[in-house]
Amino acid sequence: MDSRIQFVLFVVTFATILSPTIAKLTPNYYDRICPKALPIINSIVKQAIIREPRMGASLLRLHFHDCFVNGCDGSVLLDDTPTFIGEKTAFPNINSIRGFEVVDQIKEAVTKACKRDVVSCADILAIAARDSVAILGGKQYWYQVLLGRRDSRFASRDAANTNLPPPFFNFSQLITNFKSHGLNLKDLVVLSGGHTIGFSKCTNFRDRIFNDTNIDTNFAANLQKTCPKIGGDDNLAPFDSTPNKVDTSYYKALLYKRGLLHSDQELFKGDGSQSDRLVQLYSKNSYAFAYDFGVSMIKMGNLKPLTGKKGEIRCNCRKVNQI
Ligand code: HEM
Ligand SMILES: *[C@@H]1O[C@H](CO)[C@@H](O)[C@H](O)[C@H]1NC(C)=O
Ligand SMILES: *[C@@H]1O[C@H](CO)[C@@H](O)[C@H](O)[C@H]1NC(C)=O
Repeated sequence: MDSRIQFVLFVVTFATILSPTIAKLTPNYYDRICPKALPIINSIVKQAIIREPRMGASLLRLHFHDCFVNGCDGSVLLDDTPTFIGEKTAFPNINSIRGFEVVDQIKEAVTKACKRDVVSCADILAIAARDSVAILGGKQYWYQVLLGRRDSRFASRDAANTNLPPPFFNFSQLITNFKSHGLNLKDLVVLSGGHTIGFSKCTNFRDRIFNDTNIDTNFAANLQKTCPKIGGDDNLAPFDSTPNKVDTSYYKALLYKRGLLHSDQELFKGDGSQSDRLVQLYSKNSYAFAYDFGVSMIKMGNLKPLTGKKGEIRCNCRKVNQI
């Protein structure tokens, strides 16, 4: 055989073998197959936030909890059944993650508009997270979201328990956790800025407000009213003074030892570390925060997506397709 033809065959064979692993997410994935998808998702997210401002935070967190457990594959959305264990009952998720009804509403609307199931549940989470941030922060916080993920047919409660960082982790544990997902110190500091919106339950910050020393005393005393030593487990406190606004107040609070979770305050200890310096930067420069947040969200959104022929486009985000 002509050696040039042999070479071409070799390249084509290799490209075919490798293609599922090199299939990449793209910003314009739905432009041709369903141009209405993104505008529809944006308008449903907007409505949901008007109805309940906290929903933006809840949707952002869903994408994070999806991506950190075997990649951004929509696994977090699968319901438990008598024969299927999902991730919703894992410790970091149970009685805590929310927003599933909004995801259902989006899925139904895009399926209707596209006239078939083309938009994956994993992509819905990525788009809803981006839109929530841009709606609550303004256009400065908009970033281009990469698309083309497919949905998994599996979930793992064990992985949800071991791969999501708990609020009592110290700095080195947080770094190790993020590293295990291919994320670095800067990603940790800027993605923790997701806590610029939303709320936490008392059980997640009780130890901090009674036992931590790296905490403002007035701040701790005030929170102890919402979250006493005994009782009030589900009472909520905002992460910063503006829980419905994406802004830099989360970082400003850290400078004053007013981080809500132990893990939040671990990012700023006043010792001049690299993490301290990033917190200082983001506390006073919303452009740096907005830009770096977008970059790291795209990085997080790229965690092990299913592409090509892997996985499926689920018809109902709560259950795997019947085959
Ligand atoms: C760095 C490690 C992290 C830890 C230890 C952590 C832990 C927590 C905890 C304990 C809560 C409160 C849950 C509850 O009480 O129900 C929470 C809420 C939240 N987290 Fe994180 N988180 C981390 C990183 C992130 C990241 C990377 C994002 C997104 C980029 C994020 C976004 C959120 C949001 C928006 C909420 C509020 C949700 C709502 O109000 O419904 N978190 N997180
Ligand atoms: C962080 O926590 C781990 C596990 O409890 C511990 O071994 C380590 O010494 C802690 N690191 C610091 C700096 O406190
Ligand atoms: C605080 O630390 C003490 C002593 O280690 C422990 O018994 C207690 O459970 C911790 N948490 C609270 C909320 O006091």
